[in-house]
This record gives sequence, structure tokens and C-alpha cells, in this order.
Amino acid sequence: MKQVQFHAFGTPEDVVECVEVDDLGPPSKGEVVVTIDAFPINPADLLTISGGYAVKPDLPATLGAEATGRIHAIGAEVDGVDIGDRVIMLARNNWSQQRRVAASEIIKVTGAPDVLQVAMLKVNPATAWMMLKNFVELRSGDWLIQDAANSGVGSALISLAKAEGIRTVNVVRRPELIPELEALGADVVLVDGEDLAKRVLAATQNVRPSLAIDAVGGSQVMRLADCLADEGIVVNYGLLSGEPCQIRADHTIFKGITLTGFWLQKALNSMDRSAIEQLYQTLSDRLVSKQLSVGIEATYPIERIREAVGHAGRSHRHGKVLVLPNSNEGI
Ligand SMILES: NC(=O)c1ccc[n+]([C@@H]2O[C@H](COP(=O)([O-])OP(=O)(O)OC[C@H]3O[C@@H](n4cnc5c(N)ncnc54)[C@H](OP(=O)(O)O)[C@@H]3O)[C@@H](O)[C@H]2O)c1
Repeated sequence: MKQVQFHAFGTPEDVVECVEVDDLGPPSKGEVVVTIDAFPINPADLLTISGGYAVKPDLPATLGAEATGRIHAIGAEVDGVDIGDRVIMLARNNWSQQRRVAASEIIKVTGAPDVLQVAMLKVNPATAWMMLKNFVELRSGDWLIQDAANSGVGSALISLAKAEGIRTVNVVRRPELIPELEALGADVVLVDGEDLAKRVLAATQNVRPSLAIDAVGGSQVMRLADCLADEGIVVNYGLLSGEPCQIRADHTIFKGITLTGFWLQKALNSMDRSAIEQLYQTLSDRLVSKQLSVGIEATYPIERIREAVGHAGRSHRHGKVLVLPNSNEGI
């Protein structure tokens, strides 16, 4: 069986390897074996390989925050799944041709035929959905603002907000993204810059959003805070600039703006099984109804994992990079 490992922290395309490991054997009591069809390469995976993520594994390490596959074998005392059922993995370490995990570490997904979209369901759409729902009570017609709007999370947020009638101001760093984000349902798309707040207010007819969603950090946080209504909330969930989040005293003291954060892993850890199942049912329903779709730039076979991580690490992509561990096909 083929599996991705890394033996040192470093530049992903230099240190990841596709290695041959022993087959997994049959599932024990309470376990299932899943044949993995597809997994995306996310920034958190790349940070894990370079040693910069919140959780630093012992080496040599396996990795991979999410994946989808089909049930290949079922151990004793496992209910509710059949051979061939499509599942997503709640477990980590999924960059492999097969996984043997506790049945509690999978979620069955029905009715969503697009395997690549299902492969990306666990992390980015769930992050977008919870940031949309958990911080500010937004009603149809309200505005939010976000940066890195063409990212996986950003494009999921555009689609999910649109379906709820919530209007989005989307900040990007290059103008060629404007048509594709508008086609996805973005109400306003603006290129970042010093006069951002002025342009936002012109686009929203002077309505200030009460929620800002930030993946960039640094001075971008101040530019988002400049746009917010009094008592607004900035939710930071990434640090793409590598710079600490900056916010001014006039935001916090005079406007009462709050800067807070969101981490999906922590949120999932605080939810019981039925709440997690409900979350992914809601999101897979959005896939079925085509109210959720994230762009895809390329797919690779697992043997070309070094090229794949190199590609995923490049800026100016038009979607996610995924690996198909049991297929030789690439796009
Ligand atoms: N907290 C959580 O639970 C959680 C969950 C999921 C994701 N995340 C984080 O969310 C962020 C986005 O993840 P993703 O998977 O959605 O990303 P992605 O699809 O891989 O896209 C990367 C995005 O980052 C932008 N970008 C890269 N460097 C930038 C910079 N210096 N300034 C501004 N934009 C920059 C890219 O813009 P260009 O296209 O212009 O290059 C692109 O929009 C990452 O930081 C990730 O770690 C956090």
C-alpha cells in the first residue's frame, strides 16, 4: 500500500515521499477500512510538513487533514455503514491508499456525487459555515466582509452566504479574480488597498458590515476593521501574511470592535457526534443542491506527491490541488 510520509521538517516538495508500507489487515472490533479516493492539499498540511503548524508530529510522520473514500471492510460491532458507502474522514493522517480507523472517525455522506467536492467537505466549507453562523447573527440582506476571498474557505463562504441571502464584500489581491468570484455569487469584489474602507462603503451604500472574516493577519486586519460597524467582530482564522494581526485602539476603544479567532479542530472537539453529523449533512445537502462548490486547479496521482505539494504551495492558483491515491489519472 502506498502512503505519504515525511522524515524531516522542510520545504514540502523536498521532504515528502510516497512510500510502500504493509497492508493494513482486516478491521478490528469497532473499526472500518476505507479505500481513499481523493484528498485535497490544504495550507495546514503544508505548514505541518514545514514544522509551522499548531501541532508538530514526531518524525517520521504521516499526514493529511481530510479525505473521502469508500468503505472496504467492516469490523465487528459497527452499525450504520455498508461496504461501498461513501465517507469523509474525521481522523487525520489520510494521505494514503487505505485507512483503518474507528467507526467514530468517519461520517457517511449520501447523495453527493462529486467525489472531489466531497473530499474537501470536512475542512474549508465547515470552517466557512461555522464562521458564518457562530459569531454574529446575520439576517438575509445583511453584509459581511472577508479577505483571501478566492481561497477554498473564501469561495465556500461566498456560496454558503449567498444561499442564506447574506451579502458579501470580498477582498482579493489581484483583479483578474473579480469575474470568477462574481460568477460564484459574490456581491462585491474589491482589490485590497489603503482606501479599502472608502470603496467598501461606496459599494454597500454606506452600510457597514458587522462581521469581518480574515485569513491574512497583519495590517489587513486593520483595513477590515476600518469597514466595520460599531461593536463589529473580526474573526481571524489564518495567517497567510505571516504577520501578527494588527488592530488600533480607536477600533477597540471607540468602536468596540472585537478581534477573535476560529480553529475548526477546536470547534469540532467541542461538538457531540450528532452535532457533527448535522453539520456535514447540512454541507453535503448544499453540495447536492449545487449551493456549494469550490474551484479545482489540478489532480495528481499519489506517486507525484512532490509535484502536487509544490503546486499547492504556489500562489495565484485558480482552485485547490487534490490527490487521487488509487488512480493514475491527473488533470
Ligand atoms: N482556522 C481554521 O480552522 C482553518 C480552517 C481552514 C483553513 N484555514 C486557513 O485558511 C487559509 C486559507 O486556506 P484555504 O485552504 O482556503 O486556502 P487555498 O484555497 O489554498 O488558497 C490560498 C489563498 O491564500 C491567498 N494568499 C496566500 N498568501 C497570501 C498573502 N500573503 N496575502 C493575502 N492572501 C494570500 C491566496 O491568494 P492568491 O490566489 O492571490 O495567491 C489564496 O486566496 C489558510 O491560512 C488556512 O491555513 C484555517
